[in-house]
Amino acid sequence: NQVPLEMHKVRVVQKLNLLPVEKRLQAIQGAGNNTFLLQNKDIYMDMLTDSGVNAMSDEQTAAMFTADDSYAGSETFNRLRRAVKEVFGTEYLLPAHQGRACENILAEAFVKPGSVAIMNFHFTTTKAHITRCGGEVVEVVDSKGLQPQSDDPFKGNFNLDVLKETIEQYGPENVAFVRVEAGTNLIGGQPVSLENMLAVADVCHKYGVMSVLDASLLQDNVYFMKTREAQCKYMTTKQIYHLLADKMDIIYFSSRKLGFGRGGAITSHNESLMKSLMEFIPLYEGFLTYGGMDVRSIEAVAVGLYESLDMDYISQGPEFIQYLVKELDDYGVPVIKPAGGLGAHLNCSEILPELPHNQYPAAAVAAALYIAGGIRGMERGTVSEQREPDGSERYAELELLRLAMPRRVFTLSQVKYCADRVKWVWDNRDLIGGLQWTEEPKVLRFFFGRMKEI
Ligand code: F0G
Repeated sequence: NQVPLEMHKVRVVQKLNLLPVEKRLQAIQGAGNNTFLLQNKDIYMDMLTDSGVNAMSDEQTAAMFTADDSYAGSETFNRLRRAVKEVFGTEYLLPAHQGRACENILAEAFVKPGSVAIMNFHFTTTKAHITRCGGEVVEVVDSKGLQPQSDDPFKGNFNLDVLKETIEQYGPENVAFVRVEAGTNLIGGQPVSLENMLAVADVCHKYGVMSVLDASLLQDNVYFMKTREAQCKYMTTKQIYHLLADKMDIIYFSSRKLGFGRGGAITSHNESLMKSLMEFIPLYEGFLTYGGMDVRSIEAVAVGLYESLDMDYISQGPEFIQYLVKELDDYGVPVIKPAGGLGAHLNCSEILPELPHNQYPAAAVAAALYIAGGIRGMERGTVSEQREPDGSERYAELELLRLAMPRRVFTLSQVKYCADRVKWVWDNRDLIGGLQWTEEPKVLRFFFGRMKEI
């Protein structure tokens, strides 16, 4: 297995705890078998998410001291605007407190009862906002995207024929927008090729439908474009970002992921579109020059955006994830292939083939891995779906346990420890049983629902 090389050194550290196994059992039971409800002090490796937990660079931290704290017209916001202009080339920028706040605004502005939002694949918060506004989400990811094991380099790609058919079926006037999710989160952080993204934008243009790029996971995606797509090999990362921004009507992102800080933003070349969204910012987020972000975070994000152009930085997530995936795959653990961005994803329907969707195999493996190693992953299966309007369960296409890889946070020995604990769970999978709800919230239930062993 090719050893990934850290292109940074560690200068600030945080102490970790590794509780004894009996205490871990108590902790997960106290958390209703939901890893979101664990306390960080009880966790050795926190692989819940890469959101807001990536290590910041020295330059990001330094920039936080130069923040210009003012309600309106802050120089800090101008620096963010310059960073976005450099990275995407776009003129207009609306700040928001995080990615889902951008989704809230886009849904409020463009989704009407009966309209449809077409996308390669949904993300949890995206879908919740669209359905809240009375819209429907239709997914048109290529069928290869849902095959757990494949050697397709771009499993997040749209099926362009199905995209066109879907627009025609609903009628372009009923399509709120087509959303391209870079680094498709819920199917294993799988990238979309540049060719496919540009083709989607062309289809939208042809039908007069708006195109929206969710760029939250774009930096991993750009790494994969550079390393897996021939036409990108000799392009600079900046050329790729600019090409995309030139073609898409709107780009939004969570800067907890893109930019390694807090907050989020919407950006575009299109002045009138941005004007139609502007009024929502003071209503929901804050004034136009901070949008709910604190100024120190805005400084860090501005620097983080410049850093997202640097292959030495953006390679770190994908290369460490690739190492973990290969380690697990070589041992025979069912894992999503090829390795994507964001993290490694265990295929829990193959780990526990006897367990039906409504006994939540991915949540069961998540609880087991915490007990086995003090490692916190995130259920990305049926628990993370929302029930249909008639109350029936919507079974996830893939029952995944995501082991996110916060960038530049874990050393290789910790990644090896993680592989060792996952292998132990795989070897002892007969010990794992199903789960049932004891408390099931109506909205985004995976965040704070509780379950017990059946
Ligand atoms: N879009 C994508 C692709 C995301 O991965 C996320 C967040 C969001 C939008 C929402 O952004 O959290 O800033 O409101 N993903 C996190 C995760 C929560 O753990 O995968 P947010």
